[in-house]
Amino acid sequence: MEVLIRPDADDAARTVAGIVHRALAEGVTTLGLATGSSPLGVYRDLARRHRHESLSFADVHAFLLAEYLGLPPTHPRSCAQVIRRELVGSADLDPARLHLPSGTAADPAAEARRFEHCLTEAGPVGLQILGIGVNGHIGFNEPGSSLASRTRLKTLTDDTRRDNARFFGSVDDVPRHVITQGLATIGEASHLVLIATGPHKARAVAAAVEGPVTAACPASVLQLHGHATVVVDELAASQLEQQAYYRCIARHKPAGQRY
Ligand code: F6R
Repeated sequence: MEVLIRPDADDAARTVAGIVHRALAEGVTTLGLATGSSPLGVYRDLARRHRHESLSFADVHAFLLAEYLGLPPTHPRSCAQVIRRELVGSADLDPARLHLPSGTAADPAAEARRFEHCLTEAGPVGLQILGIGVNGHIGFNEPGSSLASRTRLKTLTDDTRRDNARFFGSVDDVPRHVITQGLATIGEASHLVLIATGPHKARAVAAAVEGPVTAACPASVLQLHGHATVVVDELAASQLEQQAYYRCIARHKPAGQRY
């Protein structure tokens, strides 16, 4: 795992956008996309690169991590709409190549299986963008999620629903259930790139990067992945014990060594 510490959230977003840009330029055609607030700066920088640096998503198949159960894809707070706004509307991502679980499927278990099948057919994901919840979740794999989990229905914790009330207006409007990719599903992506910014993420980042690998901190599963990059700002890095070493690695990166 590589940890990149950036001075601020904008720099962290530009760093992740740069990693995505390079991956697409080198032929990656499958992207995994998170929603929530963490990757928004990344998507805006990718849209800017589309406008000014000829970055194209036209050939990309994009897979979302999750969808809220009960929300149709047209709902302004659905994960589908977030990506439609950020990368379909602002760049040239083809809506027909945007894949996600349906929040309104009559049979969520069957829908989860359909989405897993879709990932198998069009995957694996070349590069997966991740955020992290303050309780260490990735996707919506809340603490206690099996490290071997696949796409399935999950119940959100009250903490996550309170956190996400900022998108919905009130906690009562935040759905209680989601269909989310599992931790093993996420782990099949070739490259995992997690972005975390702000002091409220510091504890989860430290637990994920330097704590034990445990279902109690689902993001700690990144430690088992062969190619994981964690991009944090100074505030989110503040509880990392090995900060000095991560900075030393960045300063002395051998020429040609990649993220
Ligand atoms: C949703 C997702 C979640 C978020 C996490 C952090 O697709 O992937 O894991 O990344 O809830 O949310 P923010 O970025 O809003 O703090």
